[in-house]
Amino acid sequence: MIDRRDFLRLGIGAGGMACGGMLPALLSGQEPSLLSGQEVASGRGIVAHGTSGAVATVNEYATNAALRILRAGGNAADAAIAAGVMLSVVDGFNSGIGGGCFILARNAEGKVLAIDGREMAPQAAHEKMFFVNGVPQTELSQTGALASGVPGSIAAYDLLSKQMGTGKWQASFQQAADVAEEGFTISQQYAARLRSVASEMIRFDAAREIFFDQQESPRKSGDRLVQRDLAQLLRQIAVDGSEAFYRGDFAAKTDRWMRDNGGIVTAEDLTGYRVVEREAVTTDFRGHLVIGFPPPSSGGVHVAQILSLLERFDLSDLYQSNRVAYYHVVAEAMRLAFADRAKFLGDPDFTAVPRGLLDSDYLQRRSQLIRIDQRMGTVLEGDPPANSGNFSDKPRHTTHFTVVDQQGNWVAVTATVNTTFGSKVVIPGTGVVMNNQMDDFAIAPGVPNAFGLVGQAANAPAGGKRPLSSMSPTIAVGPEGPVVTCGAAGGPRIISATTQILLNHLALGMDLETAMRAVRVHHQWRPDQLVVEESMDPAIRKGLEGLGHELKTTSAVATAQAIGRGADGQLTAVGEPRLPGVAAAY
Ligand code: DON
Repeated sequence: MIDRRDFLRLGIGAGGMACGGMLPALLSGQEPSLLSGQEVASGRGIVAHGTSGAVATVNEYATNAALRILRAGGNAADAAIAAGVMLSVVDGFNSGIGGGCFILARNAEGKVLAIDGREMAPQAAHEKMFFVNGVPQTELSQTGALASGVPGSIAAYDLLSKQMGTGKWQASFQQAADVAEEGFTISQQYAARLRSVASEMIRFDAAREIFFDQQESPRKSGDRLVQRDLAQLLRQIAVDGSEAFYRGDFAAKTDRWMRDNGGIVTAEDLTGYRVVEREAVTTDFRGHLVIGFPPPSSGGVHVAQILSLLERFDLSDLYQSNRVAYYHVVAEAMRLAFADRAKFLGDPDFTAVPRGLLDSDYLQRRSQLIRIDQRMGTVLEGDPPANSGNFSDKPRHTTHFTVVDQQGNWVAVTATVNTTFGSKVVIPGTGVVMNNQMDDFAIAPGVPNAFGLVGQAANAPAGGKRPLSSMSPTIAVGPEGPVVTCGAAGGPRIISATTQILLNHLALGMDLETAMRAVRVHHQWRPDQLVVEESMDPAIRKGLEGLGHELKTTSAVATAQAIGRGADGQLTAVGEPRLPGVAAAY
């Protein structure tokens, strides 16, 4: 628990103490804030430098929340939890306690923790649950009662706090509860995201009460958003811990709402939620050990695959002398990786995910398929060797945020309710926006999900199973310790963005800010399209088309955050320049 004086020094009241008008002025992103600028961080903005601690999130409140915990003596784990819980309040369209997350952490002694807080399908889930009259219905996996898996974020934060934290749980939840209760000013971005889903969201009473005004219009930019039920639940969790979420009032209310509305999540599903500690995926790349998140994320496996597939190319030379060829080989490596993803990846506790996907001979063979001057024809999944076993054989619209502290603890979290405002359902009396992570299952073989991803039996829905993810919290370690951590939001584009930030920084030698700003591309095998950012030079686009790629332009391939550490020990936090994110360091 943070001492009350710490909060005052940092400009925030502890517990409910600061309520009554003071807090909004202190915390709003739009309003003058004692917490902005020099008061809290020596540097902030898209890029910030410091030596004592660094934070990067997509939101000013969340970055402030993390900094406050750091400066009050908490470590990177405590601060990451503070950011995550605050994002539930101020950025609920991307992530929240009604969703899930993956946490990758490396402590100062080098111990790696991979915490799987992915949603679990309710026990009554089954392969045909999204079929009506024999036809798969993506509407059902994306919106409403059947779309939600059992949320995992609170259990994941609980485990992180117990394994690595220093006891700042209450303070983290209380400061988020204060903002939920006092309200915050809706930004233009928030209002736009709300508008984009308003016609679906208004169908759900509790969501309508919170997110719509009395005329039943979605709340607008400049309005104050107050979430009293959420504040109350956060205060319960602050005091009673994760039990208040998985066994208490929230479980009972969820059970009741689901029964009344055709859902299948029960109180027993919540009680039965299991957070899992997994073994991280590692790969060597250009003198670094790249640590990624294992299945049920596909992130770690495919970031590692793409890096390995590209190992034989002189990337620096290509980037300088033939940029078309550079993006071409990166895209071809993505095609090979995503073809494997569609075939082999799923929850390792339910399906055999071959470790051979990372076998170096296999990847060398696959890499030979890539021609520098010609696009590969039809790409199919490979035949990874079976003799190295499976991942399960070993014991055991999203946001990315990351914190590094002075002691050398590194924490990277990707958290999500899946698409904007998840299932659009708010469980009445709780303020919790429920995820629509069930859509990350392949609801039928070959039927694309919200991100156009297809899958097969390995990722079919089943009771207690976790839907396949692309979330890729990553930490790269050099001889002197961690040098960079990154990750992103954006569905399958997460894998592409994360890989390219690593390529830019570790293979092309760009500083971290340049690595984050550089043009990104994305290919996910199906649809067979190369997605490029609008800012890409038209001559390079033309060159890629000349090689046979069908191009699709987009404003941004994913939303990433990163923190790097230089040889001199200087920390550089970089928020996504395309959003923009909010980095701070001191
Ligand atoms: O786990 C996944 O891969 C997706 N549910 C992530 C969704 C996402 O990144 C949405 N953000 N734009």
